[in-house]
Formats: sequence, C-alpha cells, structure tokens
Amino acid sequence: MPRLHRSRPFVALLVTGSLAAGGLLAACGDDGPSTPPVELSAAGERGKAVASDNGCTNCHTTDGSKSTGPTWKGLAGSQVELKGGETVTADEAYLRTAIVEARSETVDGYANIMPDYGSLSDDEVADLIAYLQDLGEG
Ligand code: HEC
Repeated sequence: MPRLHRSRPFVALLVTGSLAAGGLLAACGDDGPSTPPVELSAAGERGKAVASDNGCTNCHTTDGSKSTGPTWKGLAGSQVELKGGETVTADEAYLRTAIVEARSETVDGYANIMPDYGSLSDDEVADLIAYLQDLGEG
C-alpha cells in the first residue's frame, strides 16, 4: 500500500484590518510624574473626579507627599493619630466623618482648616471613599 504524501499547504494570513486606536487616553493626574499608576475601581474613578471638582487635591496629594493636608496614599486602613493623642483606624466610617464633618476631628500635626463637605451627596461621598480605599493600604 503506497504511502500518501501530503504536502503542507502554505496558508497566507493577510491581515487587512486597520487597527483603530481606541480612546486610550492616559489619565494623567497632577501628582507628578513619579506617581506609579494606581488601579482604580469604577467608583474610584468617579471619586477621583469628585475630588478634583471639589478642590480636595489643592490640599491633598495621592503620591505620599505632605501638603496642606495629609496625603491620601496609604491612608485608608492605616492608623491615624489625632490631635489629643487618640489613634484611630481609617476605616470607612472614619473617612466619611473626615469628609462630611471635617471639623469634628483633626489629624495630629495639621491645622483644623479643612472645610466641611456636608453638602456632597451620599453617592459622591461613597465614591470619594472608594477612591481613598483604592489609594489605601490594599
Ligand atoms: C483647604 C485645604 C483642604 C481641602 C480643600 C480639603 N482638605 Fe481634607 N484635610 C485638610 C487638612 C489640613 C486635614 C488634616 C486636619 C484635619 O483632620 O482636619 C485634612 C484631612 C482629611 C482627611 C483625613 C486624613 C487623615 O490622614 O486622616 C480626609 C479623608 C480628607 N481630608 C479628605 C478630603 C476630601 C475628600 C476633600 C474634598 C471633598 C478634602 N479633604 C478637601 C485640608 C483640606
């Protein structure tokens, strides 16, 4: 029985489609070029916008450097020392109070000058907290 010899067909793949460059606009913050990119959740992205719309980033950085207020990098979940010596965990409840009733507690070493943001909607506050948690300790 003769062996059938099969020649392998050459398959030419013609890629003719044009690649549309999608809307890959890198979201460049104003935090300086050395900031490593942080993976943000959808809520965190919204919170980032709320923060810039409300001027929060005039006083807070996200890269670990101190500004008028403490940095947001690594804040969520960390231990915060308040004026008066008390140490609290920066959980969700703490962050909410720190935003909507900013005057009620003061981080040690800072002036109690942050405005109250009680006029933000619950959704905006929740998004801000999600953003802080994205920037937090993980
Ligand atoms: C005028 C400057 C200023 C602005 C604007 C400002 N903050 Fe602050 N913030 C501070 C200062 C100063 C502190 C530390 C003193 C204190 O606890 O009040 C602080 C504290 C905080 C804390 C607690 C930080 C910690 O280390 O425990 C959070 C959270 C916070 N701010 C969120 C916000 C958010 C969100 C906004 C915008 C909606 C905002 N801040 C706008 C000055 C500011």
